Amino acid sequence: MRKKIVAGNWKMNGTQEEGQKLTSEIVNMVQDERISDVTVVLNPPFIHASNVKKLIGGVDNIFLGGQNCSDKESGAYTGETSAKILASFGAKYVILGHSERREYFKESNEELTAKVKQALANDLTPIFCCGEPLEIREAGTHEDYVKEQLTASLFGLSEEDFSKLVIAYEPIWAIGTGKTASSDQAQEMHAAIRAHLASKYGKAAEETSILYGGSCKPDNAQEIFSKADVDGGLIGGASLKSRDFVDIIKSF
Ligand code: G3P
Repeated sequence: MRKKIVAGNWKMNGTQEEGQKLTSEIVNMVQDERISDVTVVLNPPFIHASNVKKLIGGVDNIFLGGQNCSDKESGAYTGETSAKILASFGAKYVILGHSERREYFKESNEELTAKVKQALANDLTPIFCCGEPLEIREAGTHEDYVKEQLTASLFGLSEEDFSKLVIAYEPIWAIGTGKTASSDQAQEMHAAIRAHLASKYGKAAEETSILYGGSCKPDNAQEIFSKADVDGGLIGGASLKSRDFVDIIKSF
């Protein structure tokens, strides 16, 4: 049975006080509303890690995640955070290859392969992002574009390592725009992603959780999550509002 996962990507948001309040509210709602069948991942800016981990405490289905990690194990890389350091603070997941990092920080497919390997070597589950820009969607070559992203960064992994991955499909034209992909568009791409992964890794792809991200909100999550190959969401803006984020978690 594939894991149902809802991950909150806070991006570069949240003062210490805001992060404390948001995390406490989410933890209390998940416990009070007895939400136990969904894996919840909170991905704050790194500096929040130890406090978020403390606030999550022993809640079985809420985990700390990172928004990125270095492709290096350790060393003189000012400003970077390694998978090893993230894991030492109790993180269990890490978002890799987000479109904003590919765009603003020019992350290459090769660099992302190294990041995936660093994450796996430190027992972090990569949430590996893929997704096409608007011009590719309008050209109708979006499936090939996403397949190439996956092939270039992931297809050198062993089947054992592949089986540990979570994939997030985030059409760039839907991120932060309010222009959510339709549930049919999401299902079409998720099915194409699963088939592509299966072409390399066979039945293991059936167990891979594939999350949708891109203006996922309480009023559209239920329809998107109802699709056969959608296993949850990677949430940006709505993850900064505890009620909205928990309502999305309850949308399965
Ligand atoms: O990583 C999730 C993010 O890119 C989606 O952002 O604000 O459209 O939910 P948003």
